[in-house]
Amino acid sequence: MWPAGAKIASSKGLSLFVFLLIPILLFLLSCGGDEFNDGEDYGDILSTEEGLVLTEGEHEIGWGRSDCTVCHNLENIHLVDRSEIGIDIESIHDQVLEEGISGCSDCHGTNGVE
Ligand code: HEC
Ligand code: HEC
Repeated sequence: MWPAGAKIASSKGLSLFVFLLIPILLFLLSCGGDEFNDGEDYGDILSTEEGLVLTEGEHEIGWGRSDCTVCHNLENIHLVDRSEIGIDIESIHDQVLEEGISGCSDCHGTNGVE
């Protein structure tokens, strides 16, 4: 068994370690944390009745408009696949940057635009 003195010394060592570790972890989190950007998040949008196709009910603010990029930054969408069907979100992200808003309707329907 450990002598009482050694026990006290080692628990002091532990609290000093924790005392230093917590600020270091917080520091690391605050640096790295902002760098990973999930982009716009409306959950799994494929799970709604019409799937990817926009409906007035799920797109009240943007309904009937063709100028998608007024509200959606193309760099900030299609960053995370929130469906559970393994979509290649990276290639969609690249495709959308290339095609711009002329391509949105291929996947998201007409958005109420005639
Ligand atoms: C006036 C702003 C605005 C415009 C223009 C706009 N949107 Fe949106 N969009 C939004 C907002 C706000 C949301 C978040 C959902 C909500 O609150 O309606 C959204 C959500 C979405 C979603 C997720 C829908 C879901 O199922 O949750 C998609 C996809 C989308 N927009 C595509 C488009 C496309 C494509 C266009 C152009 C044809 C467009 N948006 C134009 C504001 C806009
Ligand atoms: C090749 C098909 C395709 C095209 C083209 C496309 N999208 Fe998407 N979009 C998707 C898919 C798939 C998702 C759902 C991603 C997921 O969660 O798996 C999505 C999701 C979104 C979302 C919800 C937020 C997000 O990032 O998940 C918005 C907003 C959106 N798209 C807007 C647009 C706009 C605006 C355009 C045109 C500039 C566009 N999309 C073109 C397939 C496409």
